[in-house]
Amino acid sequence: MAFSIRTAISIALAASLTVASPLAQNSPSQRAKRSDEDIISKWDLSNITLAAIRSPPVNWPLPILSKNWDGVKFDINATVDLGLQYMKQAAEHGANLVAFPEVWFHGYPKGVINEDHPNSWLQKHASDYIDNSIVAGDVNWNKLVQGAIDNEIYLALSLSEKDTIHLFMTQLLISPSGKILIHRHKIRPGGRERELWTDGKLDDLKVVTTPIGRIGMLSCAEHTYPEANFIMQAQTEDIHIGAWPLTPPFGNKTLDYEATEVIVSLAHSYANIGNTAFVLTSVGSSTIYPGGANPRWTRNNDDDSYTDVPIVYRSVNSTAFPRITYNADNGVSWASFQNINLGFPTYIPQDMGTNVPWHQVTIQQLTDMSTV
Ligand SMILES: *[C@@H]1O[C@H](CO)[C@@H](O)[C@H](O)[C@H]1NC(C)=O
Ligand SMILES: *[C@@H]1O[C@H](CO)[C@@H](O)[C@H](O)[C@H]1NC(C)=O
Ligand SMILES: *[C@@H]1O[C@H](CO)[C@@H](O)[C@H](O)[C@H]1NC(C)=O
Ligand SMILES: *[C@@H]1O[C@H](CO)[C@@H](O)[C@H](O)[C@H]1NC(C)=O
Repeated sequence: MAFSIRTAISIALAASLTVASPLAQNSPSQRAKRSDEDIISKWDLSNITLAAIRSPPVNWPLPILSKNWDGVKFDINATVDLGLQYMKQAAEHGANLVAFPEVWFHGYPKGVINEDHPNSWLQKHASDYIDNSIVAGDVNWNKLVQGAIDNEIYLALSLSEKDTIHLFMTQLLISPSGKILIHRHKIRPGGRERELWTDGKLDDLKVVTTPIGRIGMLSCAEHTYPEANFIMQAQTEDIHIGAWPLTPPFGNKTLDYEATEVIVSLAHSYANIGNTAFVLTSVGSSTIYPGGANPRWTRNNDDDSYTDVPIVYRSVNSTAFPRITYNADNGVSWASFQNINLGFPTYIPQDMGTNVPWHQVTIQQLTDMSTV
């Protein structure tokens, strides 16, 4: 059926902006044997090991830039099982925090950003994508929470989440005893991602205090949104999780937003301005920055195989983190926020535009455009 996604978005925008996305609580059936305090009291806080997955999820087309999905089906069940294997492997290697790339569960839909109107990728794959998306509290969600508990790790996840009406690009931070510390939706999926997933809310931009430092999360192009960076950095993170979908080898001159040169620049500049360790997790290559301007990052080699090097590790001294909730004298502060307002060029009209206001895409709209 012919369907204009632009029409859908205008309808969605015209519709109520009050549709709330209920954020999930932990399932009461999941009980860790030990509390976070008990587990972490055994850790050496001067040597906390951060781990970033760089291997692809199940059935994801390779090589890295391939967008050939012919005959390919997503498989959330098998991807969750593979994710659990990586969590175990990382924990056995001494990891205290394990981070997965953007919507690794159940796979970033490479190809959704294309030139076709209507979106040919969505016409072919939207139904499969919806079917494989995780619902808060479902079997796969609970298996992932159990993965944090069984391996006694902080688990930083990114998944495609489904409620009764929408899909969201979700980030979760789960504690070693299985507490959900962060459950957020990407505030503005980038480019044509916005035809599949619904926007999150600014309220979700929260940094949480943990015994290993203050932790926050953003996803991919959010690192280019001044408001997302500012709101997070004003809360002073010690460890920032940045999830991207893919990072190809350096040096491909035909790429723009997908180029690794662009991604690592965003991450390193964030680590510097935010004075935070930065875990850039992405299929292809993951990079961990120890914090601030420190240029001694850790990254896999472009030619490492996924079997030999599925995970990148970096240990940090978490007792050296500032662990403060704000810094009034910092560049990212309430005072500089006032200055942004005062200094905003007066010749630019105060126009909300169409990019920033919240909008939704419903599962019904996606199902209607499906040609399979
Ligand atoms: C820090 O922890 C990692 C992971 O357990 C370990 O491999 C490394 O040897 C430790 N470093 C020090 C200095 O103890
Ligand atoms: C995942 O496995 C469950 C059974 O545990 C099954 O009901 C479900 O259909 C599977 N999901 C997909 C998307 O294949
Ligand atoms: C460079 O990127 C293009 C996509 O723009 C891709 O088709 C090509 O395979 C890439 N080259 C290498 C060497 O990965
Ligand atoms: C960790 O940082 C603290 C605070 O800066 C310092 O006192 C301590 O010596 C450091 N420990 C290690 C193992 O580097």
